[in-house]
Parts: sequence; structure tokens; C-alpha cells
Amino acid sequence: MSLTGIELALAIVLGQGRRLSLGEAASPGLYCALMPSHESRLSAAAREMRFSAIRRMSALIERPGIISFAPGQPSPETFPVEAFRQILAEVVEKESAGAFQYILTRGLGSLLAAVAEYAAAKGIRSKPPEVILTEGSQQGLDLVSRVLVDPGDVVLVELPSYIGATSAFRASRARMAGVRLDEEGLDLDDLRRRHRAETAEGRKVKFLYVVPSFQNPSGISHSVARRRALLEAARELDLLVVEDDPYGDLYFEEDPRPTLKSMDEEGRVLYLSSFSKILAPGLRTAFVIGPEEIVAKIEIAKQSANLCGSGVDQRVILACLKRGLIEEQKARIRPYYRGKRDAMLAALEADMPRGVRWTRPAGGLFVWVSLPEGMDAEKLIEPAVAEGVAYIPGGPFFVDGTGANTMRLTFAKEDIPTIQEGVRRLARAVKSQSSERL
Ligand SMILES: Cc1ncc(COP(=O)(O)O)c(C=O)c1O
Repeated sequence: MSLTGIELALAIVLGQGRRLSLGEAASPGLYCALMPSHESRLSAAAREMRFSAIRRMSALIERPGIISFAPGQPSPETFPVEAFRQILAEVVEKESAGAFQYILTRGLGSLLAAVAEYAAAKGIRSKPPEVILTEGSQQGLDLVSRVLVDPGDVVLVELPSYIGATSAFRASRARMAGVRLDEEGLDLDDLRRRHRAETAEGRKVKFLYVVPSFQNPSGISHSVARRRALLEAARELDLLVVEDDPYGDLYFEEDPRPTLKSMDEEGRVLYLSSFSKILAPGLRTAFVIGPEEIVAKIEIAKQSANLCGSGVDQRVILACLKRGLIEEQKARIRPYYRGKRDAMLAALEADMPRGVRWTRPAGGLFVWVSLPEGMDAEKLIEPAVAEGVAYIPGGPFFVDGTGANTMRLTFAKEDIPTIQEGVRRLARAVKSQSSERL
């Protein structure tokens, strides 16, 4: 390899005066130091992109032997692997090479029709131009934000809110304004206040993003009355509502609360849902149902994002729907997660010191813990990891910089005895940091 003059000079500087051999200078570490910087070539949006706090945290906490309440994933124990094996064999047998061809950007026609029927069974009526399949709801959120947001536009989000969504909105250079959440749902006075404040400054509020059922991260589910009132407020403010509903079918108590979309008589709700949490996220299939003019633009944006989804994944989902496997799956996994939720709530009750509060989610995968005011959940990571337990601190879920004393725990990953032991360890860590406060 040959080095330019500048690179050679740098090699001498980096070799602290000693002239490095060509071999040393070409070593990967030094070679990186010699490479040109591409920073100035990055777009303004990319310059602001950061790995999410959760990803950074995962590297820190995913160590062997650690009991983890951190991941935002469904348990692989729930994946119907044997059914997938049979369905995949049948898809290849029946469709041969055709199964591996590109498909339409909007998705396989037969799956689009089946999804419309599936949604109709939950009270969501749609016409074909209002439905599109995406590679996970995450892609849906990215596309929604690409077609609706100009830099500086306002997106209203919950406090706290799903980080995958706020990252997608941030990538479109949205300005995010947080609206308070309580145990009944969105604080609608705060919504009106935030909306008024943003529009008074001459900014355009493009939409409100909500996860009304068993929210990630808080586990909160909006009451029916609050859902109705939210739609009324949206009408009054002329707001588009983006409803993200990956957890609605994971309810543990009574019948599910109606989706905003099923209550929407005006066409002001754009609805996203996904098969990730009830079947398996590896099938990367989700859907958007919304106003035709927005869905048409999403289709165009999707074409440049990935041409189309996976025809194999979509055929597997179609077979699952046709065989009634998805309904079977829901009936099987609800008691599975309910047992784990119960174990986590009972353990928190038994072990946590006074002054610590938590939500009692009626579904989904998450419990949200609030430490006494003034405690910092990020600072608790080190003592918690030393005790052998991990969680996600809540601060990064708040777009307004609050929430430092909160944390997200999932009961999805560990088995019941491990959940009990993990909560004992976490309580020990909390007590060790808070003796003077509690
Ligand atoms: C609220 C919410 N929306 C969307 C997603 C994305 O899911 P997927 O892309 O697998 O459909 C997740 C994943 O955790 C989520 O929690």
C-alpha cells in the first residue's frame, strides 16, 4: 500500500515522532485515523442522528447472567415455530420460485384483502385504497413521517412516548411537543394548551401520535371516555391522529377497548398495527389503514424505501390468517403474559421500598416504575447491573427532557422465578441508592 505525503506526516505524528513502518501505518487502527472525515458530507438530518439511548444501553446491560427487564421484544417462547415450519414448506412446495419474486409495493393483493377483513372484525372498516402493508410498523412510522413532516413542523407526542416513533419523526426534522399522560390516557387540557402554544408561534402542527392501548413504554391504556374525548378534541383542533396499535390484542383483563380508528367517523385517524407482537417480529409485516390521499403517498415513499415487502413473509402471514392461527395465538399468549405480569406486580409489591410507584398494565409487555422525585434511573444502572439486573431508564422516552426518575421494565423475557429474583435485586439496588430519601 502507498501513503500520500499528508498520510505519511500524520503517521509520524501518530507514531509520536518515531517514523512508523509502512506495515504499522497500514494497521487498521491507524488506517482509520488516516482516513478522510466524511462528517461534512452528511446531510443535516444525518448529522443529528444518534443511536437510541436504548441501543446504547443494550450494549451495557446485555451481559451473561444478568436478569433483563430491558428488551422491548416479545418472548420467542410464544413464536409458533412448528406451524411456521409447515407453512414455509407448503409455500415453497405450492408456489416454488414465484414465492421469491418481487411483489407489489402495497403488498400481496390476497393479504391486503385478508388484512382488511381482519381489521373489519375489530370494527375498522376500510376501502382497498386505504390499506397498505409495511415491513413492520416501524417502517410505517418512518413513511408517515416522510410524507407528512417538513423540517420544523410540529408533531405532538405522549409524555412518555415510543422511542422508535420519536426517532422516525426526528429523522424528518420534526419539532416534537410532549403532551402529558395520566392513568386514564392523554391529558386533553394539556393537548389543547400545547396545540395553542405551537400554533401561536406560527408553527404547523402536523399530527398527534398516540399508542392508546398498553403503551410502550408506560403500559397505560386510554379509557373509553378519554378516547372519545380525544377524538372530540381532535375534531375541535382539526388534528390528524396517528394511532399506533401493536399491543391492543394483548389484553389480560376484560374485552379490549375500541381502537380510536373504529370510533372515528370523520377519517381523521391513521391507524398502524403489526403482527410482530402476536406472531413474530421476524416476519416484518404490519399494516397502515388511513385516509386514501395519505396512503397513496405512503405507497410512493415506500417504493423508494424498499420497492416492496417480503413476499415470503407476507405469504406466511396470509396462511396464518386463513388457518385461524392468529386468533389461536392470541388466546395462547394472553394467559402466558398475564402470568408474568402478575408475578412482576406481586414482586414489586413485596420488595420495593415505599415511595416507589408503578403502573398496573391490563395488557401489553411493560410496567412503568417511578422512583421518588430526585432519583435518577440512569445513575441506578451501575448498581443494578452490579446486582445482576437490567432495565431501561425512562428519561429518553420523554421529548421534554423530564422523566429522569422513571424506568421501563418488561415482564416478557424472563420466566416467573427469574422475574421474582430480578425484582428482589432491583429493589436492593434502589434501596442502596435511596436510603436517605426513603
Ligand atoms: C409502540 C410501538 N410501535 C411500533 C413498533 C414497531 O414494531 P414492528 O416494526 O415490529 O411492527 C413497536 C416495537 O416495539 C412499538 O412498541
